[in-house]
Amino acid sequence: MPAANVDLPTVPPPANALAAVVHPNPYPYYQSLAARRPFDFDATLGLWVAAGPQALAAVLRDPACGVRPVGATIPAALANGAAGDWFGALIRMNDGPAHAAMKPWFTGRLATLQADGATLDRLRDASQAACADAYLAQGDTPAARLDDFVFRQPIYALAAWLGVPSSQWVDVYDEVRTLVAAMAEAAKPSPRAEALARGHGAATTLRQRAMHWLDNDAAPGTWLHDTARSAAHDDAIDYAVLTANVAGLFTQAHDACAGLVANSLRRLARHASPGAVPVDTGRQALPANLAVAITAVGEVIRHDPPVQNTRRFLHAPAVIGERTLARGDAILVVLAAAPAGAAPNDVAWTFGHSAHACPGRSPASTIAAVGVQSMLDNNADLGAIATGAAYHPLSNVRIARFHDDASAV
Ligand code: HEM
Repeated sequence: MPAANVDLPTVPPPANALAAVVHPNPYPYYQSLAARRPFDFDATLGLWVAAGPQALAAVLRDPACGVRPVGATIPAALANGAAGDWFGALIRMNDGPAHAAMKPWFTGRLATLQADGATLDRLRDASQAACADAYLAQGDTPAARLDDFVFRQPIYALAAWLGVPSSQWVDVYDEVRTLVAAMAEAAKPSPRAEALARGHGAATTLRQRAMHWLDNDAAPGTWLHDTARSAAHDDAIDYAVLTANVAGLFTQAHDACAGLVANSLRRLARHASPGAVPVDTGRQALPANLAVAITAVGEVIRHDPPVQNTRRFLHAPAVIGERTLARGDAILVVLAAAPAGAAPNDVAWTFGHSAHACPGRSPASTIAAVGVQSMLDNNADLGAIATGAAYHPLSNVRIARFHDDASAV
């Protein structure tokens, strides 16, 4: 069972599985949902809700369940623009042949990212650059800087790891945020035209950047350079789809990694570090703060996961968990409700399962651990900043929020 992660006084349970994402302690509610209504229709949400482990696995494996509504791979508000073109090319947003053509190849490419000593040094440098830029962006308010840092650090670190020149990190971060904001805007009932227009601009720029990185900007020996060479030798790789998905790595990392870093920092703030004991990896002992950070990130992945739910849409009628679903039905797949140890292959549910499972699990965990380590190395006063109970107002990703000003990051 997912452990309750906070020692807060009793607060009323969340109203439903969407409200649970930002609840101070949703885990008793999730536990009861998984036990009593493992797969049921929630009339107030207008969604099927899968919460028990069998139901989660059944939905995520069922070929009738697609990642986008039937006939709507691209959200209507983004159609006819660069952000829509980009969105429609993502492996995350496609099923069938478009997904099958790229997913194994991308998974293989991401598996080449090795967290050796030189890489950890590069990630640490990128994290310190993110810390400095968070200061420039937010000034002297520690909680606002920390809110900025948890989003910025994963993008800088991923950029450093892939081989993006450091001069571009700050702009890449701004563009990724703008594109993520446009996707969120497109899901609203009345999206604001300016936010969508900015998203189209950011999508154009990011894809152009990806093109330049793959063409010549990235130095020999970097992931981007090797990826370009690998794609050049593979007729099955469509270059336009490749550039979209390289940009997509950053948007995938944005919220999910921020949740890993922020929730780990909150966990450390609440449960004072049990003492920094260097971990013996068999090759060399890790720095004490990195060892503490790796433990905290691992606990968050299992007990306070960033990605709490995802969605599926019926592309054909299906019987799932003895319930009959119609074409067009939508399912909320509550990854955070399933017991931490009950996932197939013991991979934490927060990284998804089956065809669309996250190919970035390992690098994401390393990036987050280095982000947490940077805050520990900088002696951030987590007890003063990070113990609150607020979360960014999202319906799928749980990201601890430290600054209480609603206009903050
Ligand atoms: C470096 C950071 C990351 C990268 C590059 C990355 C990349 C990706 C990509 C490319 C996909 C699409 C796979 C597909 O549709 O077949 C994906 C899916 C997914 N990722 Fe990640 N990811 C990152 C971090 C994370 C983190 C930190 C989490 C959670 C803690 C996460 C959870 C997921 C989940 C749940 C899915 C599947 C969604 C679904 O099935 O609907 N990712 N990721």
